[in-house]
Amino acid sequence: WREDYLTILVLGASGDLAQKKTYPSLINLYAWKLLPKNVQIIGLARSEMTNEELRNRLKPHLVEKNGHSKETIDDFLNLCTYQSAPSYGDKETFKSIAKNMEEFEKRTPANRLFYFAIPPSVFSETALAIKETCMQDKEKGWSRLIVEKPFGKDLQTFEELNQTLSEHFSEENLYRIDHYLGKELVQNLLILRFSNVWFERVWNTDSIQCVILTFKESIGIEGRGGYFDEYGIIRDIFQNHLLQVLALLAMEPPTMADGPDAGTFIRDAKVKVLRSIKPLTLDDVILGQYDGYAENSTITNKDSKTATFAALRLFINTPRWHNVPIIMKAGKALNEGKAEMRIQFKDAPAGQFIFQGQACPRNELVMRMQPKEAIYMKTNVKSPGFTSTPIQSELEVNYDSRFEANCNPDAYTRLILDVIRGRHSAFVRDDELRYAWEIFTPLLHEIERSGVTPIVYKQGSRGPPEADDFIEKKAGYIRNKD
Ligand code: BG6
Repeated sequence: WREDYLTILVLGASGDLAQKKTYPSLINLYAWKLLPKNVQIIGLARSEMTNEELRNRLKPHLVEKNGHSKETIDDFLNLCTYQSAPSYGDKETFKSIAKNMEEFEKRTPANRLFYFAIPPSVFSETALAIKETCMQDKEKGWSRLIVEKPFGKDLQTFEELNQTLSEHFSEENLYRIDHYLGKELVQNLLILRFSNVWFERVWNTDSIQCVILTFKESIGIEGRGGYFDEYGIIRDIFQNHLLQVLALLAMEPPTMADGPDAGTFIRDAKVKVLRSIKPLTLDDVILGQYDGYAENSTITNKDSKTATFAALRLFINTPRWHNVPIIMKAGKALNEGKAEMRIQFKDAPAGQFIFQGQACPRNELVMRMQPKEAIYMKTNVKSPGFTSTPIQSELEVNYDSRFEANCNPDAYTRLILDVIRGRHSAFVRDDELRYAWEIFTPLLHEIERSGVTPIVYKQGSRGPPEADDFIEKKAGYIRNKD
């Protein structure tokens, strides 16, 4: 495959996402020799720009993190060119790009990757233009599309968008990205759950009190008010990232987790979880908005009721998860940035008899996705010395100290490589999205119809204090010290 030809067309090359995520991931793949030798990367957007101007814009995003040398950066930038288009549906532009690709492709296989870092409002015209000008015969090579969220605003808009894409491209060529599926600890769920005898045995309603998925950010919405105020935290984080993580955490074992059919098996298993969740209602949720949110200059509606924080409870109606409350909690402008999956186990039945009323804290398994990936199990041990009180300690795998630095590529780098290798398992299939929207659409419509006012919380706080009561009450959760 190193001798193959590959053209990567980045649509929306002048935008934030392309500059902060797509190009930095591509340089990683380039530097680590994971791209074919014959690769060209064409950026496309509406703004006028020369190749040099694009390169200068990209440079600051390519340096630090992975420590690429100046030489590598220059070599990589030489592969990157830029083309502007009067609109994303402009066929003349795409015809000239197709000609460029043909001239570049000296031999087969010659593959084409289209990265949609553009708003959904222009998906349709872009997809059509690509279909008519840039798609090639299968014998010459593959043509694959990476698509970014938002995948609609509710079930209906999702169906419309999906229809547009599926008119032009088969599911086999579509890769809907949810970058949480590319995070190390999320990818680790399969191995952790199904290769360790002690986890799978307790991973059910007999032992689990509740599951809590948390996403916290210390930053607010910054310059993204235009997008965020329309979508809100539930569409931004819950319907996609948290629900996808939950599907992997809760699914039954897939038939196989590797090999050509893994994508089908894993996504089938996830779909079963999603179909077993009842649509949510207002009773299942608590909403918050940080103080000063609407003062942000990128928000036009100064009376906005868009939630920047939410906590909700749902149930998965399967034998494994019968009556186990699942809590999802996410918010912006909080006291810290952290994403974790937490499973709290039931009280140890013998605790109250054997230890005669001494508190036995509940066991927890915590998988911290970021920052500093770690897995730890809150486990009771005897307090050392002359006493025999149970105290809680951690059995811990800390990725920084256990594994080599840099063994852990970021989510986008990993996922783009998956697309090049034709692996679908960490991408979202259309039916997964359909069921995800079925769970959230009634709630989102109810929130909009009833005009619920979110509870105001202080920037830099843990969110509305009511959320802690909500979680305790709705999930029987007891907060352990961290
Ligand atoms: C994006 C959301 O999908 O994920 C952002 O649109 C959010 O609002 C981001 O900040 C979080 O990603 P990460 O990888 O920084 O946790």
